[in-house]
Amino acid sequence: MFVRDLSCISCQASYRPDEVEYTCPKCGPRRGTLEVRYDYEKIAENLSKESLAQERACSIWRYLPLLPLESRHYIQPLKIGYTPLYRFERLAGEYGVRELYIKDDGGNPTASYKDRASALAVIKAQEKHRKVITCASTGNAASSLAGLAANTELKTVIFLPQSAPEAKITQLLVYGAQVFAVEGSYDQAYDLCSQVAAQYGWYNRSAALNPYLVEGKKTGALEIAEQLGWEIPDKVIVAVGDGSVISGIYKGFYDLLQLGFIEAIPQIIGVQAQGAGPIKRAFERYDGNKVVIEDQQASTVADSISVGMPRDIVKAVKYVSAAQGFFIAVSDEQILAAIPALAHSTGVFAEPAAAAAYAGFCSLGEQGRLDRQDRVVVMITGNGLKDVSAARRATGEPHLVGANMDEVDRIVDQLGIATGDLGGR
Ligand SMILES: Cc1ncc(COP(=O)(O)O)c(C=O)c1O
Ligand SMILES: [Zn+2]
Repeated sequence: MFVRDLSCISCQASYRPDEVEYTCPKCGPRRGTLEVRYDYEKIAENLSKESLAQERACSIWRYLPLLPLESRHYIQPLKIGYTPLYRFERLAGEYGVRELYIKDDGGNPTASYKDRASALAVIKAQEKHRKVITCASTGNAASSLAGLAANTELKTVIFLPQSAPEAKITQLLVYGAQVFAVEGSYDQAYDLCSQVAAQYGWYNRSAALNPYLVEGKKTGALEIAEQLGWEIPDKVIVAVGDGSVISGIYKGFYDLLQLGFIEAIPQIIGVQAQGAGPIKRAFERYDGNKVVIEDQQASTVADSISVGMPRDIVKAVKYVSAAQGFFIAVSDEQILAAIPALAHSTGVFAEPAAAAAYAGFCSLGEQGRLDRQDRVVVMITGNGLKDVSAARRATGEPHLVGANMDEVDRIVDQLGIATGDLGGR
């Protein structure tokens, strides 16, 4: 691996990977998150646009020289990443932008973007010969961890709020994790998990704490750049809770810029729920010096971004600032409405947090904040089947009929859909 060091996002102290496990001891867990820094010259000897064009792995492992792995030994067969980047021309026209792309991560093995990070964490735990891996999660990080550890010797222990959607909890149980459903918020589950992990010496995959997660989360950006033929988009829009996914998106483009694969970093736009917006607030107060952290009680229908004490707030604020980006907030009504709106117009079914990114795109369009020349990528970070009850709050009901033609005829008539071509079969 071509890792040079781990560097503190706040004080820039440099650590060898075997020197610290999680965060900068001087700055503590919130401010002392670590960046993985690479030797780009060595990477360039092992990775080029040409070598990628020949690469057969259709997964995050196509970017192996850019990932902090000791070897290929623990790579599993599940296909993680290299998800589709769909272009929608009619929708682009409707919102007055040149090109609109949806990066659909709902097709990952456990149906969310988090598989990219869990894949790295599971490998790191094995490289370090750990026996138990744990995390706190709103649901997706946990289900991805449980799913990707399932085929290993690792035992998985999960802490998540009791209120997490049923599908996410079911995933955990199906994959065989030990699940602690916490009577409290995600923020409380996070602190409890940190305490328990320290007590028992378990390897901790909780967001932000573990420096390798952002390296997995950056692979979405690597793919976007490669899928667009190394012509970066103008804007990338992503939903934000802890701030790790958005930090990963920046880091991916940053690495590619260092390698000379791209010429600039796109504007990165974070979308937060109105009821859970501490990173947006910190960003708006940020003057280039210290990030001011003000936590809150989070409340939103988008469970995955219902985060009041974001753990990657410092990175997210600094990175989005470096990417000339910004944050916007969307309401729960906008998030719920975005689920069927996106599904109707693209065929992509997103869970509420992922739909928040699309709601952010629509809102920017409605406010006239998109440019006619813009090429925009909206990140869909989780599959809609993760939380069907939220989706049902935004849809109508089916037509309930008796098992006979008369009732169907009546409704077909009401709906005015009796226009099918009955001939020519
Ligand atoms: C579907 C989905 N979208 C977006 C996010 C936001 O990621 P982060 O908490 O790293 O900001 C998450 C995190 O759980 C998620 O599961
Ligand atoms: Zn530090």
